[in-house]
Amino acid sequence: MDNFSYCSPTRYVFGRGTEEQTGTLTAGMGCRKVLMVYGGGSARRSGLLDRVEASLREAGVEWVELGGIRPNPTDDRVYEGIELCRRKGVDGVLAVGGGSVIDTAKAIAGGVPYDGDFWDFWAGKAVMQTALPVGVVLTIPAAGSEGSGNSVITKLDGMHKISLRTDMALRPRFAVMNPELTFTLPPYQTASGIADMMAHIMERYFTTTAEVETTDRVAEGVLKAIITEAPRVMAEPCNYQARANIMWAGTLAHNGICGCGRREDWTSHGLEHELSAVYGVTHGAGLAVVFPAWMTFMADHNPSKIAQFGHRVFGIPATGDDRTDALSAADALKAFFRSICLPVTLRQLGVEHPDIPLLVKKFHEDKGLPFGPYHPLYPADTEAVYRLML
Ligand code: NZQ
Ligand code: ZN
Repeated sequence: MDNFSYCSPTRYVFGRGTEEQTGTLTAGMGCRKVLMVYGGGSARRSGLLDRVEASLREAGVEWVELGGIRPNPTDDRVYEGIELCRRKGVDGVLAVGGGSVIDTAKAIAGGVPYDGDFWDFWAGKAVMQTALPVGVVLTIPAAGSEGSGNSVITKLDGMHKISLRTDMALRPRFAVMNPELTFTLPPYQTASGIADMMAHIMERYFTTTAEVETTDRVAEGVLKAIITEAPRVMAEPCNYQARANIMWAGTLAHNGICGCGRREDWTSHGLEHELSAVYGVTHGAGLAVVFPAWMTFMADHNPSKIAQFGHRVFGIPATGDDRTDALSAADALKAFFRSICLPVTLRQLGVEHPDIPLLVKKFHEDKGLPFGPYHPLYPADTEAVYRLML
């Protein structure tokens, strides 16, 4: 096991009616006036924004709005939010939504106290030391941004989708998590969220670090819970207990607990971020296509951990040959994704004619050459993995 330093400072306020505590929690961050960031309309339609606003009012917190954040959020809305915060004298940011809204809120929070261009942090030209405090009301279990220090933003110039990981600066101070808020999710978003949270665990599970049995078992346990709850939540979208289990799994998948003491991979996310940057696909659905392809490729390059995943998570009997078992694991994962109506090929994802050379070029521009802690990918390998998605 590797040395590690782990701190998840977010207060998770979980359960029915918890959004009514938003005002008190926001005031508790020391905020008098916040920027409230939200998405394209679901939070307004469901009445959630009205309840959050009532709660802020009751706690004596003022707010300014930045709505209409779209999936796979872009830098233009971040610049707009930074300018708004400065002009209105805002002292905190409240995200009401999913990963796209939360990531925009985080980027704004990091940009306001910084004199330069906020993109400097994403471009690796500056290290973020401080940010306005961020609070979250989560409406979709998927990206795990409510508990992560990450923010994923696409720069419109060149469509570069980059994930910034901070240790502490961008970790939300609180996350309100009411599973009932997720009853209105369309099935495709529910399923995509499930693929995304599984991917967050698997990016950490597939490691070259030896002797990490404890975090292996934590990861396997959360994955098995997701696999059990997923069919329930798909069949019964208003089943509170199934929604609650999926929601908590989404947070545990990405708040760092599954990555302690081990080298993480993140190749599949890098490959997917190019797909969502270029083709605008839903991130989790993209991962349902990418991850089995990456595992299939790895069966020939580093199969042992993938075979172990097959044995322990999907109960695949060991044949004694890691390559065979890794291929079975990739097939089992694909079958699981299919069972919850997710795409498993680029065509099913809606990408009829993928420009693979462009995807390969962008992947190495954005991630480096080679990239892949579990097994390094050079352009010919990256191309082979994309071809396995056809
Ligand atoms: O915009 P609205 O109208 O709210 O609709 C959203 C959006 O269309 C809808 N939705 C959300 N909650 C809903 C709802 N519809 C009905 N009822 C509800 N309760 O769902 C759609 C997707 O929303 P989005 O915020 O994009 O979803 P998600 O949480 O999957 O976030 C995806 C983004 O997060 C990034 C992804 O790359 C992508 O840009 N990620 C962020 C990470 C992080 N910060 O740690 C890690 C992840 O790996 C990921 O890369
Ligand atoms: Zn993800």
